[in-house]
Amino acid sequence: MTQRMTLITSPVFIPEAQLKKAGSFAAIFGNDHPLSLDIGCGIGDFVVQIAKRHPERNFIAIDIFNQGCRQTCSRIEDAGLNNVRMLRIEARYLLYEYLGKESLQTIYLNCPDPWPKKRHRKRRLLNRDFLNLVLYCLQPGGVFNFSTDFVDYGESAGELLAADRRFENRHSSPYTFELGDYPISKYMQRFLDLGQPIYHCSYRKKAGLTIDKPKLNKGFRLRWVKEEPSE
Ligand SMILES: C[S@@+](CC[C@H](N)C(=O)[O-])C[C@H]1O[C@@H](n2cnc3c(N)ncnc32)[C@H](O)[C@@H]1O
Repeated sequence: MTQRMTLITSPVFIPEAQLKKAGSFAAIFGNDHPLSLDIGCGIGDFVVQIAKRHPERNFIAIDIFNQGCRQTCSRIEDAGLNNVRMLRIEARYLLYEYLGKESLQTIYLNCPDPWPKKRHRKRRLLNRDFLNLVLYCLQPGGVFNFSTDFVDYGESAGELLAADRRFENRHSSPYTFELGDYPISKYMQRFLDLGQPIYHCSYRKKAGLTIDKPKLNKGFRLRWVKEEPSE
């Protein structure tokens, strides 16, 4: 599905040109607090919950759809949070172009599009190439969190992550249904209310690794690499 980008004027919304001009997220936030990234933030209810708990951390929320970006901006503003910024940007492009080596303390990837048809599974965000980018951008000891309502995605993510020796599993099994105090988005809650589990993976990047910048696999459409509309 394609969409036309619409103008978003919220003060917490950062157009790509502004990020380029600022040169860093520290300049955007006005401090160098540890940085977390919520990929595909949807309507922003997860990032708002986690950012409220951690005023000592900065959060970048990203999504590629206008409506989600707008709703996330409103939620951030309504909550009065000054440690969250919203970008309308594709995840791999942001990681590759703007997030440097060891720049992130935490990455959240909650309920990414499951691409349920077998022939579409190669479109899933989580794969080896994506993990290489994640590991490049995570600081040593940084954490990658993944969750999904989709059985096949949960099982394959657990398998992929558990097999990657560059990570240390924070749980005792490749994935867990125990969410503990992990914030629940409205999207996740819908499945929990139906008695369906949320698969959750939480993996820590080991210290002492040297990870070179991976190449960006341009197999996906960089249709979001366009200029933001201006007033
Ligand atoms: C099923 S929703 C989950 C939303 C949210 N994480 C939650 O748990 O409520 C998936 C979201 O990921 C966004 N998305 C999909 N592919 C993306 C990509 N490559 N980069 C950034 N966002 C993406 C979609 O626009 C959508 O809002």
